[in-house]
Amino acid sequence: MSQDDQKRLAGRAAMRYVEDGMIVGVGTGSTVAHFIDALAERRADIEGAVSSSEQSSRLLKERGIPLLDLNAVGDIPLYVDGADECDGQKCLIKGGGAALTREKIVAAAARRFVCIIDPAKRVDVLGRFPLPVEVIPMARSYVAREIVRRGGQPVWRDGVVTDNGNWILDVHGLRITAPVELERELNQIAGVVTVGLFAQRRADVVLVGAEEMR
Ligand code: A5P
Repeated sequence: MSQDDQKRLAGRAAMRYVEDGMIVGVGTGSTVAHFIDALAERRADIEGAVSSSEQSSRLLKERGIPLLDLNAVGDIPLYVDGADECDGQKCLIKGGGAALTREKIVAAAARRFVCIIDPAKRVDVLGRFPLPVEVIPMARSYVAREIVRRGGQPVWRDGVVTDNGNWILDVHGLRITAPVELERELNQIAGVVTVGLFAQRRADVVLVGAEEMR
């Protein structure tokens, strides 16, 4: 089975968590695109979706799923999103698609976070995938120096501007054995908007293809 088939299985499996009348938080990426396709088949049953990116908003609109403003709905019962890496404690690296800030906001506002991945995303220790960090543009060099002091090798994702008008540093060379502590520490650096570590608010459920991770 191809990686894309596994993504489709995961996207469809997440529909188990969608209930009638629900407001659904929707992440970003190719796995989520499969979830949006499945969600569209039940668009008449749900109240609508809170999107985590311009890209997902476009897909949701194209498929006729009502878009809701997070400020108008408050807490949401369910958030479904992919990941770039997932460890055994359901801690994640996200942001390969540069949507990490809005993803973190919607995940934080959700009562349940269902993460959908293909098997290639499962790792024992996070960090082989470079950790995305969204920064205020004027702070790029300063944040990069602070990250180097902490043992990382930041690379500017040149040419990429996030939905929030910011830039991304991809941090190589990390072996993240204490994700909660690292997330907290990097969050303290002035100019950091969002760290792509989802450890404090990690996934509640991880679907690897159609199978739930134990
Ligand atoms: C978007 O910024 C990311 O957090 C995605 O969730 C992540 O990159 C997974 O993407 P795929 O589903 O395309 O692998």
